[in-house]
Amino acid sequence: MNHDEMIRHARQVLSDNDRGAYTVPTHGLYPFQWNWDSALSALGFAHYDEPRAWTEIETLLDHQWDDGMVPHIIFHAPDDGYFPGPEVWGTGRAVPTTGITQPPVAGFAVRRIHDRARDSALAARQVRALLPKIHAWHQWFYRCRDPEGTGLVALLHPWESGRDNSVDWDDAFDRVPIDGVGEFTRRDTAHANPAHRPTDGQYKRYIWLVQKFKSLGWDNTKLHDASPFKVVDPGFNAILIRACEDVADLAARLGMEEIAKESRAMADKGVAAMESLWSDELGQYLCYDRAEGKLIPSASIGGVLAAFAPIPKHRITALVRRIEELGEVCNYLIPSHDPRAPEFDGLRYWRGPVWLIVNFMVADGLQRAGEREIIDRIMGDCLRLIETSGFAEYHDPVTAEPCGGAHFTWTAAMIIEILHTFEVAA
Ligand code: DGY
Repeated sequence: MNHDEMIRHARQVLSDNDRGAYTVPTHGLYPFQWNWDSALSALGFAHYDEPRAWTEIETLLDHQWDDGMVPHIIFHAPDDGYFPGPEVWGTGRAVPTTGITQPPVAGFAVRRIHDRARDSALAARQVRALLPKIHAWHQWFYRCRDPEGTGLVALLHPWESGRDNSVDWDDAFDRVPIDGVGEFTRRDTAHANPAHRPTDGQYKRYIWLVQKFKSLGWDNTKLHDASPFKVVDPGFNAILIRACEDVADLAARLGMEEIAKESRAMADKGVAAMESLWSDELGQYLCYDRAEGKLIPSASIGGVLAAFAPIPKHRITALVRRIEELGEVCNYLIPSHDPRAPEFDGLRYWRGPVWLIVNFMVADGLQRAGEREIIDRIMGDCLRLIETSGFAEYHDPVTAEPCGGAHFTWTAAMIIEILHTFEVAA
């Protein structure tokens, strides 16, 4: 497939998953609007339909909660092919949403789409309306998920990370009880191969946390301290820091001084705090279990995704070494878990497979830092994966087997973005 054909296919995927004012990640498995899927998908739309790209992010932020939180799923239309649906969450919103959040990539996406907009008047109008909302979300994070002001926010549910079943959470997740979780029927395994998905044991704990937070009325002033699961993820924090930095730059250019100043302060504090997560032994950042007060020695992609944030140059250099090392033990970069680790599973969601969105964010961070060689390898691997196995949700980093959902929106959006913005050999 040449690059033009690939872009044509990718646009078809976006159009098939387009529901008018939002896209679904893929038909069947994920039938609603997902937070970070949407923001990253907007990057793809922006290359050929800027108004549609802005609409995607506008729709997401239209469902922001009063406290600033932007939910992880918006249940725009009923669909009983998904579990857990609105009745399980019980958040009481007019248009139902979940009560947890997801990686805040919207600030980054908005800046990127603005900076290369052909319709700069539309872009300026959109940014003026969207920045205060995104800024309120960022402030919510530091207020509600970092109540002691450490500079790093904690996740209260693995679904917030987007990396649902990462090895990173295993020990902390074992401490989440399952008492009181009644019988339920999973729907995901009717749409995707169960061997590619989280286990039933993990699903019980996912649901226990939802029930616990629901019993607290989804009150974000209580959830952090009440949750038995409280993990600081370097990848998630890197996304938040990068988004704060992007909002700071954009707000400064538009004369939105207060937002610029506060965003810059949050980003600077976050970058400094990231140092506490560095591991010389693994050559990457680690997660931190805030409930137990200890680092989690797990060799996952979360610690490499930190490259997306404005971290110091010597840390970038070390992360490049780490990626090169991973490149020696798999065929397609970047595996979501180190293939040499005993827990690695090349097919199972975030325990090994390659995700194009992560490859893109890591490469974007490395590009800013002036790294070239390793980007060529990462981007080349992305294209080979798609050529071999299509626009799957994720791929096995050794065999390229397509995994999870097929015909996947953000995978397609990333191909459009990569082919337009990185120099990749034809
Ligand atoms: C799912 O349902 O698998 C999602 O990842 C939760 O956001």
